[in-house]
Amino acid sequence: MNKLIKDIIEWDVRNWSKSLNYWLEETSLELTDRNALEIGSRNGGLSLWLAKQGCKVTCSDVNGPSEKARQIHQKHGIEHLVQYKGIDATNIPYENDVFDIVVFKSVLGGIGHNNNKDAQFKAINEIYRVLKPGGELFFAENLVASPFHSFLRKHFISWGENWRYLSIPEIEEFLNPFSHKHYFSTGFLAALGRNEKQRDILGKIDNLCINKITPSKWKYIVVGLAKK
Ligand SMILES: C[S@@+](CC[C@H](N)C(=O)[O-])C[C@H]1O[C@@H](n2cnc3c(N)ncnc32)[C@H](O)[C@@H]1O
Repeated sequence: MNKLIKDIIEWDVRNWSKSLNYWLEETSLELTDRNALEIGSRNGGLSLWLAKQGCKVTCSDVNGPSEKARQIHQKHGIEHLVQYKGIDATNIPYENDVFDIVVFKSVLGGIGHNNNKDAQFKAINEIYRVLKPGGELFFAENLVASPFHSFLRKHFISWGENWRYLSIPEIEEFLNPFSHKHYFSTGFLAALGRNEKQRDILGKIDNLCINKITPSKWKYIVVGLAKK
């Protein structure tokens, strides 16, 4: 796994990184010189990826991205393509129809903490509003997944109970305003790894066989693209 992809994805790189090829294959936009926004970026991984595609990127998080985001962007020589902002996804401080692309990974669940589905709805509606007509949302988010995942999150992950995981029918509901959307799910065993080395091995097993034999709704990641 190369260092750039690790800096972009950070966690369970084997499964989450499938999003990058998917977005490149499915987008109908030429990405060079596009005006893009990353929501909930923390360490700015997807801003790095978008800048590498030639986009001008607004890298945002609710209280601004981390210092590490700036360092990583400098390390990869793309900081001149990025501006940094504090943006609450439920109230995006831009006019309508500004961005060609909005991207997020593993953010909606936190926006919906303490079962706040309305906040998740609001965030998607705000993303829709600031996208230009024909603009695209690239997303990757955590799913409810299997009863086994639910049990482990409840008993072994400190934030697992507060995070509002999405179901596939909810993805459909949230993306209703978009003119078209498509998505797939991936990842099963790798979510159980305690460190990136374990997740890498389990991710390999997911990709060799588990992803092929597990029902879509039991996987823990949804990756998709929706067009305004
Ligand atoms: C699990 S982290 C994911 C970070 C990054 N996207 C990634 O994949 O590594 C969730 C991120 O969502 C951000 N977040 C939570 N509520 C938010 C909100 N209302 N608006 C924007 N970002 C928010 C958090 O600050 C955090 O950085």
